[in-house]
Amino acid sequence: MRTSVRWAIHQIYRAVAGSTRGRLRRPCVRWTGRGALGACEGGGDVAGPGRQWWRDAVIYQVYPRSWADSDGDGIGDLPGITERLPHLAELGVDAVWLSPFYTSPQRDGGYDVADYRDVDPLFGDLAAFDALVARAHGLGLRVIVDIVPNHSSDAHPWFRAALASPPGSRERARYLFRDGSDEGRLPPNNWTSMFGGPAWTRVTEPDGTPGQWYLHMFDTSQPDFDWTNPEVRDELEDVLRFWLDRGVDGFRIDVAHGLVKFEDLPDTDLTLDANVDATALAPMWDQPGVHEIYRSWRRLADSYAVEGEDADRILCAEAWVLPAQALAQYVRADELHQSFNFEYLMTPWLPDEQRASITRSLAQAGAVGAPQTWVLSNHDVVRHATRLGYPQHPGLQRIAGIGADDPQPDPVLGLRRARAATAVMLALPGSAYLFQGEELGLPEATRLPDESRQDPTWERSGHTQRGRDGCRVPMPWEGDAPSYGFGPGERSWLPQPAEFGALAVDRQRDDPGSTLSLYRALLAVRRTHRLGLGHLTWLDGHPEDVLAFEVTSEDASVTVLANLGTDPLTLPDSADVLLTSAFPGTAGHVGPDETVWLRS
Ligand code: NOJ
Repeated sequence: MRTSVRWAIHQIYRAVAGSTRGRLRRPCVRWTGRGALGACEGGGDVAGPGRQWWRDAVIYQVYPRSWADSDGDGIGDLPGITERLPHLAELGVDAVWLSPFYTSPQRDGGYDVADYRDVDPLFGDLAAFDALVARAHGLGLRVIVDIVPNHSSDAHPWFRAALASPPGSRERARYLFRDGSDEGRLPPNNWTSMFGGPAWTRVTEPDGTPGQWYLHMFDTSQPDFDWTNPEVRDELEDVLRFWLDRGVDGFRIDVAHGLVKFEDLPDTDLTLDANVDATALAPMWDQPGVHEIYRSWRRLADSYAVEGEDADRILCAEAWVLPAQALAQYVRADELHQSFNFEYLMTPWLPDEQRASITRSLAQAGAVGAPQTWVLSNHDVVRHATRLGYPQHPGLQRIAGIGADDPQPDPVLGLRRARAATAVMLALPGSAYLFQGEELGLPEATRLPDESRQDPTWERSGHTQRGRDGCRVPMPWEGDAPSYGFGPGERSWLPQPAEFGALAVDRQRDDPGSTLSLYRALLAVRRTHRLGLGHLTWLDGHPEDVLAFEVTSEDASVTVLANLGTDPLTLPDSADVLLTSAFPGTAGHVGPDETVWLRS
């Protein structure tokens, strides 16, 4: 596997490594393989005052830079999003999650926040945000926003004050400043940044002398907060209140597993480019202390819920943590509501691996009384229509950074499999997140000109890692318009590939075979049959390379057959087909890389 997959692999393996240290793990899981889901004794129901809309919600991620541009500057904005919200209501999702739109120098697409309580002028202002929320709520869509608690921007007033203040000051204590080793000349430890290079940068002290170092697990412009400092805790909780008071329905928590670092910041024995060693220590990820923070956040969120009303405010972790059992700790009854299942995202399209991943995921979330949170694409990974266009191998899949000189995917196969995989995911019990454009079958832009790249990974890796721009290319809305309707003119902050025209929303809207029509159908049937609240049972008697399961809810039972093999599967004459992922499907058969839903 190439080093270009290191973004997620590095994170997830550090998390795995952490889990081998025997901290905080509760060995309470039993799953008995295919056909049997074991429940854990002692798994309680998730508490909560409301009616828990989030348990089966489908939530659509908007990356604000890339969804819709109202003013023609080539960068998407809040008024653009508001105008296009009817697309989401027609699609049939429950909520929209907005990636950061806060005041920011945009060194990491807004995940470098300079003011947590304001909107960057690039995207609009607070009035535009309020209008967005009002419009979304009017359309029956809830609004989730991003919170970035691991680090701020170096343009944040706190960090500027820290640079202007001496070592040991209250201002420095909000971040992780340390003296260097070797008389200050070398970084305090050997940690490396997720974007490449050392995780430490040396500052020049106010008197002009070379000084302390500060920790940044991501870009140099993203200094990590010190979460042992109560001032940091209070400030971030106050930020949560600010947005809750403005009416948001919840938060997606950035780098949720990274806030607390192991005491004294010891060296780690993993380096970014080293071969992964699952026994290595991971002192910067998944430390037990994060759970206390989330218990406090949960109390805060619950204080906004309304008893007996379907008005819970929710918290969803972005935590690259393995195994599923460790991830489940984040969604215990008194912690977060959801946590993205990245292990599922990285599972290859191979029958045994899919079955094992789904079974394990359901068992582990079920053991703590939580729903599972499925996801196949987001703004950090290669889109699944492209990932699945490569040969599938056991183990974690390639997920980041494809350039024009890399092997290219088979786009037809990739889209066929992506449609089939989505049809599996949307049948599974639990909630699911969709990434903008996947409902159009958008592929990754794998041939972006290198000079257009903006992901800091590209620069920090010395132009060896292409990074994540390929999945962030602006949306095509109208096949014949300039910038495919992304904005009023030609401008688009990343160039849109020519094939986006044929995939535009207006080209797909009335085409029964389009990916957009498939997503609408999947979401409608899922909702009618309440599949997200159902219970999964694996079905025997099918070929090994067919995923065969039944999902039973209070309202209905649906049988799902996903053919991951190469031979068509013949359906019985009595089969009552609700929908098929391929168009046109072959009557009486489930073709290779096709999923069908049958009325049970
Ligand atoms: C995870 C976000 O999804 C990613 O886009 C960002 O670069 C890092 N966290 C750092 O905030």
